[in-house]
Amino acid sequence: PFAVELRRTGRTVEVAAESTVLEAVESAGVRVLSSCRQGVCGTCEIPVLAGDVDHRDAVLSAEDRAAGTTMLVCVSRAAAGCGKLTLDL
Ligand code: FES
Repeated sequence: PFAVELRRTGRTVEVAAESTVLEAVESAGVRVLSSCRQGVCGTCEIPVLAGDVDHRDAVLSAEDRAAGTTMLVCVSRAAAGCGKLTLDL
């Protein structure tokens, strides 16, 4: 499990092991545009303000992954050892 801070919304939500960041954010009542929910369409790309991401999508380039400034919230998660991601949401 890890936490996701929604900087603009002013809330922090927990992401359980069996849940995605997208599901956790939606459960908190925050709307995020999504489509495929499988990491392939790019619709759910959200800016990352802090934290290390374990990128699991098929959208971002190697440069994007290394930069770590956005993530696809339907599949990607916090990296091992990173307890909190801060998103521009
Ligand atoms: Fe398609 Fe996340 S909804 S990449």
